[in-house]
Amino acid sequence: MKEYQKILGACELEDLAYQRILNWLYDQYGMSYPENKKNLLIQHISRVCKFFDMPSLAAIADRLELNGYKDLQDAIVHAATTNHTYFFREPLILNYFKEIILPMLPKEGVRIWSAATSFGDEAFTLAIIAAEARGFIWAKQNLEILGTDVSRVVIASAATGIYSETHVDKMPIELLERYFVYLGNGQFRVQDDLRHICKFHSFNLKSENYLFPKAFHVVFCRNVLYYFDRAHQRHVVDAIYKVTEPGGYLVTCVAMSVRDLDSRWIYIENGIYQKAY
Ligand SMILES: C[S@@+](CC[C@H](N)C(=O)[O-])C[C@H]1O[C@@H](n2cnc3c(N)ncnc32)[C@H](O)[C@@H]1O
Repeated sequence: MKEYQKILGACELEDLAYQRILNWLYDQYGMSYPENKKNLLIQHISRVCKFFDMPSLAAIADRLELNGYKDLQDAIVHAATTNHTYFFREPLILNYFKEIILPMLPKEGVRIWSAATSFGDEAFTLAIIAAEARGFIWAKQNLEILGTDVSRVVIASAATGIYSETHVDKMPIELLERYFVYLGNGQFRVQDDLRHICKFHSFNLKSENYLFPKAFHVVFCRNVLYYFDRAHQRHVVDAIYKVTEPGGYLVTCVAMSVRDLDSRWIYIENGIYQKAY
């Protein structure tokens, strides 16, 4: 009986520690997790536990709360995020960007932000679409794309511009040939000129300070808002509004509406919003 109680006590402690990790993820990054994701998240966190040779979830929670263990924090953030992405994701939205938004953008100095870019597929996809529509020389001289993500692991990967086949297999083959170099072993590297159009940095969308040197003409914020509760979603779309040029666009996904968040964005169509001039 005593042994059983000991095990039960240990389980309760680990449950408590799990809750503390969830609280940390929510406070620092605005991420919320439904109960049905618990087992998966614990699996991912346990791998981090093993990697850092930590004895328990409680030990992890202690260190996260101390806020000084950068590598461990980065690993937990990475374990807690879904980084699934690929080139030319959601053609309907990309087509709108190409046909309606791009022609409205200035001739010079175009700035686009791929917020929550994950491995950078979205940033490079936008660079390719713009280069195809306005010419590669124009893109090299007039286009800047910033890709950001809270996970430093994916940002480091994005900066290399190297992708496996699963990332590029939905894109038209002629574009793959034009903008990538095949490295062998199913690996492709984005061509240097295209790589220079995109810059990558880590950035937490929960942050209070959206400090950028210049406002953006278009902000893509796709497949990330569902991590956040309503209050955080509202914060993110308001903060993006402030760093967007008048008449600029916010692009979410067809399925992710920000209409009911009571923000100043003007609804254009599903997944497309505009800032008033
Ligand atoms: C599913 S990916 C979306 C990638 C890309 N936007 C797309 O649609 O293909 C979601 C990304 O959001 C990032 N993310 C989650 N919380 C974040 C936060 N608070 N700030 C910035 N990025 C965050 C994750 O690290 C992950 O890479």
